[in-house]
Amino acid sequence: MSDNILVAVAWPYANSRIHVGNITGSYLPADIFTRYHRLLGDQVIMVSGSDAHGTPVTVRADAEGSTPVQVYEKFHNGFIELFQKLGLAYDLFTSTHTKNHFEVSQAIFLALQKNGYLYTEKQKQWYAPAQRRFLPDRYVEGTCYFCGYTEARGDQCDNCGNLLDATQLIDPRSKTDGSTPELRETEHFYVDLGALEPSIVDFLRQRESYWRSNVLRQSLGQIMSKGLHGRAITRDLDWGIPVPVEGWDGKCLYVWFEAVIGYVSAAIEWAKLGGQPEAWEKWWTNPDAKGYYFIGKDNIPFHAVIWPAQLIGVGEWFGKIYSNEDGVKLTLPYDVPANEFMNLEGQKISGSRNWAVWGLDFLSRYDPDPLRYYLTVNMPESKDTDWDWDDFVRRNNDVLVATWGNLVNRVLSFAYKHWDGCVPEPGELRPDDKVILESVAAGFESVGEHIDAVRLRPALNEAVRLASEVNKYLDTSAPWFEIKSDKEHAAKTIFTALQAIDWLKVQLSPFLPFTSERLNLYLGYKQPLFGEQYVETVEDSLGKHTVLRYNSADASGKWEPGCLPAGGSMEKPAPLFRKLEPIVAQEERAKLG
Ligand code: MF3
Ligand code: ZN
Repeated sequence: MSDNILVAVAWPYANSRIHVGNITGSYLPADIFTRYHRLLGDQVIMVSGSDAHGTPVTVRADAEGSTPVQVYEKFHNGFIELFQKLGLAYDLFTSTHTKNHFEVSQAIFLALQKNGYLYTEKQKQWYAPAQRRFLPDRYVEGTCYFCGYTEARGDQCDNCGNLLDATQLIDPRSKTDGSTPELRETEHFYVDLGALEPSIVDFLRQRESYWRSNVLRQSLGQIMSKGLHGRAITRDLDWGIPVPVEGWDGKCLYVWFEAVIGYVSAAIEWAKLGGQPEAWEKWWTNPDAKGYYFIGKDNIPFHAVIWPAQLIGVGEWFGKIYSNEDGVKLTLPYDVPANEFMNLEGQKISGSRNWAVWGLDFLSRYDPDPLRYYLTVNMPESKDTDWDWDDFVRRNNDVLVATWGNLVNRVLSFAYKHWDGCVPEPGELRPDDKVILESVAAGFESVGEHIDAVRLRPALNEAVRLASEVNKYLDTSAPWFEIKSDKEHAAKTIFTALQAIDWLKVQLSPFLPFTSERLNLYLGYKQPLFGEQYVETVEDSLGKHTVLRYNSADASGKWEPGCLPAGGSMEKPAPLFRKLEPIVAQEERAKLG
C-alpha cells in the first residue's frame, strides 16, 4: 500500500537570495526525502512558494525605490531558477501572492473566528514618528527579556529561541534607522492560543517519541514552562492579505499567520493546475496522510506550535467550505524534522556582510551534485555545522571523484571496451559475486530506513560505504588481469560490478539526481529515473505568477534491486565528476566578506 505524504518546505522570504545554509536547512533535505518516496511509489507532493508579504519586502522596496511587487517578483524568479538548476523538484513552487492563497487564508481566518478562537484587543505598538508608521516586530530590535541578548528581534530571540512580545523589548530601536520608537495604540485580531493549549499539548505528546529533541524543546518544552498566550495575527500594513472583516481597511493578516497556510493553499493550487481540483484532499483531509515539514530551527515555534494550533482551531469549518465532505478536519503535521544552522568558514552566514555562499553564484562555477553531496554529508541534522571550502574540495575529490566516480568510470569503460558496448553475459555467478551483490541489495533497506527517519547524512554515508565495498571487491577480483587469462571470469566480475553500480545509482539518486540520470543512460536505460521540472506562468486577478512544477510521466526509477539486462547495449560512458584543484578553496575564501 502506498502512503500519502505531504512534503511541506519552508517558504523563502522574497527579499533576499538563497545561500547554502538555507539550502541545507530545509530545501535540499525536502527534495531528497521526496525523491526517495517517489522511487518507493508513494503518493507524495512537495509544495512551497515564495513568502511574498510582510515588512521584509516593503523595507527592501523602500530602500531600493521600487515596489513590493517588483521586489517579490525579482527574488521569486531567482528562487525558481535556482531550484531548477539544483534539481529541487517541487510538485509546485508558487507564491503567497496569489488569489487562491488570499482566499484560502481568509477562509482559515474566518473559520477560526466562527469557532470562537479569535478576539480583538487594543494594544500598544512601537511607532516610528520619523517614518510615520508602526514598526513591525521584526523591525524593532533590542535586548531579550528572557536571556539578555542585545540583538534580539521583536518577534523572536535568535539566542534563546523564545518568541517575544515586542513591546517588552528592553532598549528598543528601529532596525531601519536606529531611531527610538514610541508606543502607540492600535487594534488587532488575536488567536486564542491559551484556549487551544490542551489540544496542542495532546498533539505534541502523541509525537514525542519520534520528534527531534531540538524541536520538542522549542515546542512542548516551551509550553510546559511558559504556557501559551494569545498572539496578534493582524498588522498595520498594506502589503499583504486584507483582513476579511468590515472596517479593517489598512490592516493585513500577519505574514507568519498566512504564510504557513500556504501548505494548504499550494496543495489546492497544485490540484487545480493538474485538472483534479479535489486531489488536494488526499493529503489534507485524510487523517492517514503524513505531513513532513522541512524547516530551519528559527522556524520551529511557527510550525510545531502555532500552525498546528491554527489547524486545530479551524476544526471542521474549512472542510465545509473547501471540500465536498462534511465533518472533515485538516490533517496535523506528522513530523517537523527541523535542522540546525550551517556556518561558513567558522562564522555565522550573513548576507549583509557578504559572508555567504549564494546558491546561484555557486552553480555558475560548479555542478549541482557536488553541492548536494557536500550539503548532505554536512547537513546540520543534530548540531550546527560548518561549510569549509578545503573540506568541500577534499570530499569532492576523495569521495565523488575517487570513490564513486572512479568505480563507475573504470567498470563502465572496461565493459564498454571489452564487450562491444554491451553488458556482459555472466553465466552462473560465483560465491564472492553473490556476497557483494547481497550487501549492495541490503542497502535498499539500510539506506531507506535512514531516509524514512529523515537521517539523511547517515543515509548517504551508508550508500557511499557500499560503493567502497564494491571497489574492494573489484580490487580483489581484478578483472583487468582476469581478462587476459579468462574472459568468462572477467565477465562475471564486470557484470557483478555493473549490477552493483546499477543499484547504487538508485540508492544515490535522491542525493545525486543529475549524475544518477547520466549513469542511468550509460547503463542503457531509455527512461529517466525521475520526471521533469518545468516552469509555467499562471494568471489570476492579482496578476501573473511564475510557478515551478514537476511531471512524473516518464519517471521509471524504483527503490528496489531490479535486474540489469545482461547483453543489453550501453552508452559510451564519460566521467561523472570533475576533480577540483586545491587552489579553488583559496580563491573562494578570498571572495568572502
Ligand atoms: N519565510 C520564512 C523564512 O524564510 C519561512 C516561512 S515558512 C512558512 O524563514 F511556512 F511560514 F511559510
Ligand atoms: Zn533571548
